[in-house]
Amino acid sequence: MRRVLCKGERLGLRDVTEADVAALHAVYGDPAATQHTPFTPRDLHEVTALVQQAMEAARAEPRRLYVLAVIDAEHHGVIGVARLRIEADHPHSAEIGFGLHPGQWGRGIGTDLVRLLLKFGFKQLGLHRIWGARSPANLPAQLAMLTAGMVEEGRIRHHVHTPHGWRDSIVHSALEDEWTER
Ligand SMILES: CC(C)(COP(=O)(O)OP(=O)(O)OC[C@H]1O[C@@H](n2cnc3c(N)ncnc32)[C@H](O)[C@@H]1OP(=O)(O)O)[C@@H](O)C(=O)NCCC(=O)NCCS
Repeated sequence: MRRVLCKGERLGLRDVTEADVAALHAVYGDPAATQHTPFTPRDLHEVTALVQQAMEAARAEPRRLYVLAVIDAEHHGVIGVARLRIEADHPHSAEIGFGLHPGQWGRGIGTDLVRLLLKFGFKQLGLHRIWGARSPANLPAQLAMLTAGMVEEGRIRHHVHTPHGWRDSIVHSALEDEWTER
């Protein structure tokens, strides 16, 4: 698949471009939005490099990495970023990550975003398994993934190293044959 375009009721997903750097920095550079991520807030230079890597990855064959701008369907602005990475050794399976600008939180958009990522992965990419790992303390991510139908699988101990030390992750997953679009 070359270019991504995936539409939901309130959101859309499309490939990131250089024009999205500022909007992505508003998420990746925000202390609240990166509170539960393994990395500290990114600066503009780092986000520019991430976008360039994402655009390069979009041209790879086979394509394994999708870094997608989350678009508000009504106002057409970029309100977040989503990531889907197909595992090289297990190409039926992909890991997702997602983040919204804090100004968007608490209105069900995160849950819609997880639903849209599942729809994209299962229907457009033909994946069988989609999983995401979150910090044990990340309640909004837990609830968004559970409500979107991603069951909790278990805990990976010391999965990531953060500026505060080792951190466990809780893994959620959805399988194509148990997933229903809602
Ligand atoms: C995770 C994230 C996308 C959720 O976005 P959101 O738009 O606020 O999510 P929703 O509004 O769909 O809320 C999901 C659930 O969390 C609950 N919730 C939201 N914010 C909350 C908070 N601060 N405290 C407790 N619960 C909260 C909602 O009530 C909802 O629960 P419900 O389904 O029982 O009603 C958003 O918090 C975010 O971008 N966080 C930073 C990046 C991140 O942590 N990404 C996840 C990596 S795994």
